[in-house]
Amino acid sequence: MKTILTGDRPTGKLHLGHYVGSLRERVKLQNSGEFDEIYIMIADAQALTDHAGTPATVRENILNVALDYLAVGLDPKKSTIFIQSQIPELFELTTYYMNLVTVSRLERNPTVKAEIAQKGFETSIPAGFLCYPVSQAADITAFDATTVPVGEDQTPMLEQTREIVRKFNDVYGNGTAILVEPEILLPSNNVCRRLPGLDGKAKMSKTLDNCIYLSDESDVVAKKVQTMYTDPTHIKVSDPGHIEGNVVFTYLDAFCSDVEKVCEMKEHYQRGGLGDVKVKKYLLEVLESILNPICERRKEYEKNPDYVMNVLKDGTAKAHSKATEVLKRVKAAMKINYFES
Ligand code: TRP
Repeated sequence: MKTILTGDRPTGKLHLGHYVGSLRERVKLQNSGEFDEIYIMIADAQALTDHAGTPATVRENILNVALDYLAVGLDPKKSTIFIQSQIPELFELTTYYMNLVTVSRLERNPTVKAEIAQKGFETSIPAGFLCYPVSQAADITAFDATTVPVGEDQTPMLEQTREIVRKFNDVYGNGTAILVEPEILLPSNNVCRRLPGLDGKAKMSKTLDNCIYLSDESDVVAKKVQTMYTDPTHIKVSDPGHIEGNVVFTYLDAFCSDVEKVCEMKEHYQRGGLGDVKVKKYLLEVLESILNPICERRKEYEKNPDYVMNVLKDGTAKAHSKATEVLKRVKAAMKINYFES
């Protein structure tokens, strides 16, 4: 069996970083026919670990994320799209896994560490937030996932999941594997693993306000491309320019399939004689060719929110039945299945 599980926190609309880091890959994997089951989770319970005080944001963005999923081409006939909080088995598993992880191990998780600094949680970390990697291990193992396609920032979560799986199998498996040890699947194109923001900062992120959203109208995209960080030493068109750290070229590497053309443009830019306006114009064309169809499909689905909610309802029912089966196996292995003969 080959099974995918992956997902996103519903704290905002999805952006280009999500697209190249994971969404584009998921659609490809979905259509490859190589996987027996595909689960795509809207991680609302995880979103609440750092949005406890703003539940309305989380609720609102369930629909936004679902619309983005359908707009990029996830197909509910092939991929089971579901809502995390509606699967109680995930929280049971989390509780049991929590006993297999130390607090110091949780505190060492580099992604969690970075988020703690970014959110100003240093002096008081919500316990649920510190433990979200454990709940992520539950998300992955509850579906017997073999493959988790994600961006690079999720590498530490996968490492922790694998540790929990090994520990669990060791303690409760008596030599047999009860839980499946998953593999991470990163985009093969390096620049896609962590797309920088429009401002050149390390990561495109809603908090940093440096995103192009999948739902942005084309005039908004055009304006955002104009503001993109390039090479501050490239003042006159005739000046030789730098492409390292020049976000416009990084985006061309991530989005443009005409590698030869990008290569030529880079050479020309470095020699001098190619202006930023021209490069940005070309990038805008490339982005529009990707974003316009997504935007159009999104608008169609927006007209029919009942359909979208039904997709989530059906997906959640299916995911629930799979997680129930796995939890049963886990409880049997843990010898806490008292009333089963
Ligand atoms: N941590 C992921 C994010 O921030 C969301 C997520 C929750 C997830 N559980 C998961 C991703 C399990 C992959 C597998 O977007």
